[in-house]
Amino acid sequence: MEPVNVREYEALAQARMDPAAWDYYRSGAEDEVTVRANCDGFARIRLRPRMLVDVTSCDTRTTVVGTPVSMPILIAPTAYHCLACEDGECATARAAGAADTLMVASTLATRNIEAIAAAATGPLWFQLYVYRDRAVSESLVRRAEAAGYRALVLTVDTPRLGRRERDIRNAFSLPPHLGMANFTSEDDLTMVHFQGTGKSALAAHVAALFDTSLTWEALSWLRSITTLPVLVKGVLTGEDAELAIQHGAAGILVSNHGGRQLDGALASIEALPEVVEAVNGRCEVYLDGGIRRGTDVLKALALGARAVLVGRPILWGLGANGEAGARHVLELLRAELELAMALAGRPRLAEIDRSLVKMLPN
Ligand SMILES: Cc1cc2nc3c(=O)[nH]c(=O)nc-3n(C[C@H](O)[C@H](O)[C@H](O)COP(=O)(O)O)c2cc1C
Repeated sequence: MEPVNVREYEALAQARMDPAAWDYYRSGAEDEVTVRANCDGFARIRLRPRMLVDVTSCDTRTTVVGTPVSMPILIAPTAYHCLACEDGECATARAAGAADTLMVASTLATRNIEAIAAAATGPLWFQLYVYRDRAVSESLVRRAEAAGYRALVLTVDTPRLGRRERDIRNAFSLPPHLGMANFTSEDDLTMVHFQGTGKSALAAHVAALFDTSLTWEALSWLRSITTLPVLVKGVLTGEDAELAIQHGAAGILVSNHGGRQLDGALASIEALPEVVEAVNGRCEVYLDGGIRRGTDVLKALALGARAVLVGRPILWGLGANGEAGARHVLELLRAELELAMALAGRPRLAEIDRSLVKMLPN
């Protein structure tokens, strides 16, 4: 029987995937407190539905940094989709297009920038890591521009890699037939990845190549080399939201990297209100982390998110049933959101505001 919710895809994908690859997808940092908090945070928020509103048609369409999408649910950048299905990120891009929404492709994809763009039937953004050698990042930016990506998403929560103990235990590395497709095989970048260090190969890549000295200057630099809008991913405080705006961010993505970086950091949904308050309408605010239901989306929108992004659920869809699975995950979330809007008496996104939610005391 076809899965009836996103969590059922999780179980299916786990049963089909290689255990070490599965661990890479599921893992969080250290005790995985923040991984759990991302989901639990939504349970501490209750909805205040209004009755006797005409909900014959509920409209989920919106725009994200000016790009129209059919729903406020986008695909978060995650690495290594080929671990889940053969076509990897190309399958994900087609699923996003079929659902009429947007995909953010990762720097660490297993299909390259150009191949993903060729497969895509919908809009794309490109997620960027800043390498110690800025020419590496600049060349990724040029390729994303040339391939028609519409915005850059600068990830700022990864100066070093969080301690993901499952990957350390598994000495996790990509299988030999896969690589970080955005880097050519002669590059040192790929060599580091395959070095067989006896510990997580991704941790070795990040330690060797990512810029640990990165400051807000990097955002100014990025803006100076491109005309694409730049969103900042990984903000969890009002203070950093203010700095992101001062350095020209076109959007802020409230995220803790799916609990994979600083364990014990705020759940994304806990951080959202203070970021929205600090931003005060000066740019769009997005959220990822722990979205598993349409009602989670509704709560994030009520607290001021323009749209949400989903990470692991897409990987579960891909792992269970490739492109069709990823597309079905998006359709399940869309249907749940649409129903939740109806039952909450908010048939239009513009009517979803803070009056819809009540926070339970801790
Ligand atoms: C397997 C995996 C790989 C990820 N790779 C990246 C990445 O390459 N770049 C990035 O900015 N975020 C990455 N993330 C973080 C996601 O963009 C997103 O913040 C997170 O998955 C959202 O939480 P969720 O999985 O609960 O939806 C990754 C997350 C996972 C689970």
